[in-house]
Amino acid sequence: MAAKRYTAVKGFRDVLPPESEAWQRIEEEARELFQCFGFREVRLPVLEATELFTRSIGESTDIVAKEMYSFADRKGRSLSLRPEGTASLVRAFLEAGLDQGGPVKLFYSGPMFRYERPQKGRFRQFYQLGCEALGYAGPAVDAEIMAMLRLLFEKLEVKGAALEINSLGCRECRPGYREKLVAFLRGKENQLCADCRRRVEENPLRVLDCKEEKCRAAAAAAPQALDSLCQACRSHFQGLQNYLKLFETPYRVNPRIVRGLDYYTRTAFEYLAEDGLGAQNAIAAGGRYDGLVKDLGGPEVPGIGFALGLERLALLMPKPVEAEARLDYFIVYTEKMREPALKILLALRQQGKRVEMYLEEEPKSLKAQMKLAAKAAPEALIIGEEEFSRKMVKIKEMLTGEEKLVTESKILNLP
Ligand code: HAM
Repeated sequence: MAAKRYTAVKGFRDVLPPESEAWQRIEEEARELFQCFGFREVRLPVLEATELFTRSIGESTDIVAKEMYSFADRKGRSLSLRPEGTASLVRAFLEAGLDQGGPVKLFYSGPMFRYERPQKGRFRQFYQLGCEALGYAGPAVDAEIMAMLRLLFEKLEVKGAALEINSLGCRECRPGYREKLVAFLRGKENQLCADCRRRVEENPLRVLDCKEEKCRAAAAAAPQALDSLCQACRSHFQGLQNYLKLFETPYRVNPRIVRGLDYYTRTAFEYLAEDGLGAQNAIAAGGRYDGLVKDLGGPEVPGIGFALGLERLALLMPKPVEAEARLDYFIVYTEKMREPALKILLALRQQGKRVEMYLEEEPKSLKAQMKLAAKAAPEALIIGEEEFSRKMVKIKEMLTGEEKLVTESKILNLP
């Protein structure tokens, strides 16, 4: 009987080529761009004390209440696989004493874990690239990171990503708004889904972004945070819009963006895919969290950041280059030339060329090798005894059939 085969756990997946190559491209472009904007990399652990997330993301949020992978370790401490990166980053920022210096910009990447219902673009293990700017109070940095994301999408040839912004107010004006919202929602409980009925008292803002049709209808005329902003929040939001115009970054104001994490203050934003992602259409999302550093035991340090979902972004990228065009050369050799061919193969790779040749021990005819070459690379390097005795190698262009002789040292880029 065949041995048992295993499959990945539901909601967890393998990222295979060519998708993994699209990911590499995203990561390379993002790193370069983030660094142009002054962000430096932090590598954060995947496990944290559960309390870190409860305190920062908020006990009544879906993430903390329903979606965390939490367990007791061997000493009985409650640990969780991180559902996001901001809480960990702020923890690391304080732990390393970075709050003692001036403003800092940091980025991170890696897997996050949420026990959500898997569907297109939504997984239980997913990857984020995130940036956080700490110590900047004004709206210029808010606009800067939104402009940076737009540049990233341009570099990656991702089209149709629309920026939506909102302001959620601050600790001064939010409580007043919350009261107005609760007053509006009370009495409408029977028109809401079971989750939203609970949210009315616990986390009323979340009712505004519930996907259920009946909740949307019930909340259609709900008061908006934008109408209850204090003077400082209003001028921050206006400043943000002025800078977005200056940076030529198109946006729409969407008063329904509330975000699913409690730490947000003032700016909240999302980049949404206009098509290609279905219901899970947020490619990147973030906002300001001016009270979080303090809530986690630090001084008053404002913060703003975002995270983008790699799976979702990869789905929007142009189709990856087919495997055929992945190589620079394919080496074809006569039986006696196997050893020199292997040496040339290594030397070319050492120079950063992408090269393959037929590697198995059983000889293969030149014709059969040329077939492999035609599939794999635009040019074949043919290593034959007669030419090689004169230190020459033949290059054949696969598309046109054109051949030319070049010296071995030229191929190897030798002086
Ligand atoms: P978030 O909106 O929870 O924010 O997630 C950010 C992005 O991660 C989403 O827009 C989406 O692209 C991706 N994402 C989230 N959940 C999943 C999932 N289950 N499967 C696939 N992709 C997913 C945060 O995590 C905040 N920490 C962002 C932030 C940083 N705010 C300030 N700084």
